[in-house]
Amino acid sequence: KGWMGENLYMYQGFWYGSTSAFSVQTTMAMQDSFKPLPTDIYLLTLPKSGTTWVKALMFATVNRTTYNHNSNTSVLTHPLFVSNPHNCVPFIEPEFVNKTPTYVQENPNPNPRLFSTHIPYTSLPRSILDSGCRLVYLCRNPKDVMVSWYYFSNKFTLKNLSPMTIDEMFEVFVKGTVPYGPYWDHVKEYYNASCEHPTKILFLTYEVMKKDTVNQVKRIAEFLGCPFSKEEETEGCVEEIMRLCSLEVLKEVNKDGEYSEGVPNAVFFREGKVGGWREDLTDEMSKTLDDITNEKFQDLGILF
Ligand code: A3P
Repeated sequence: KGWMGENLYMYQGFWYGSTSAFSVQTTMAMQDSFKPLPTDIYLLTLPKSGTTWVKALMFATVNRTTYNHNSNTSVLTHPLFVSNPHNCVPFIEPEFVNKTPTYVQENPNPNPRLFSTHIPYTSLPRSILDSGCRLVYLCRNPKDVMVSWYYFSNKFTLKNLSPMTIDEMFEVFVKGTVPYGPYWDHVKEYYNASCEHPTKILFLTYEVMKKDTVNQVKRIAEFLGCPFSKEEETEGCVEEIMRLCSLEVLKEVNKDGEYSEGVPNAVFFREGKVGGWREDLTDEMSKTLDDITNEKFQDLGILF
């Protein structure tokens, strides 16, 4: 048992929950039959790393000529103004619940297609690795991920699961028994893969994204083959995208409604701070997490 007392299942070195959309079964089904297009773009993350935000930034960047930011009417009809970023950049996993993929497989447009997944590098369908598609990996400081998981868990109404205390959350996070955990292995695998295949995998951190959003958005655009022109930069296009995808705007747009049954849209938007863990973790918890991180990441150049 792990996160929220749920039965978790180990597959290829990582833990999976029993939610049908994000299960071992859907991962295996994807491994068996997922057919990417070489032009696809994937955002890869551990839950609570800022997936929702970077989905919005990537969607707005890639589709910026379709939804022109300089026209007020277009801005008002921008998909991010009317729906959750998770609907604009869908997870692949839920498509494989019934082994009859719908959107993902049958929607060759728009080009490029934007998708997301939490699946660890080890278990990514080979078809994705072997095709020409590009991958963006986003990671976040483990202490903020853990605290974000804690608040998310206690807003979760999908199942009749008992709320967690911060101590319980800490225990399962350290053990790695959270969906797609252990955290450190997930990050490390993608980090190493991004060093090995730098033109295929772009490695980002939430912390640098927050500190220098404009340059990171430009970096993403360049990596995805749609760099901002000088003219766009002068017109403030990047800043416009940044404002559209800000926590304040997305929170307001998503204050009502549900992403899926029992999962309110609002649950994906909280404080969005770097270092917010200070309000919730004891010194001892913080030290334990630092020690594990230093040990696991000692030979890597990840800076939070
Ligand atoms: P906090 O719980 O620390 O506030 P994910 O999208 O992977 O589930 O991650 C959720 C985290 O990203 C939450 O962190 C949430 O507040 C933060 N987040 C959501 N939208 C954001 C935005 N537009 N800008 C910055 N952070 C955002």
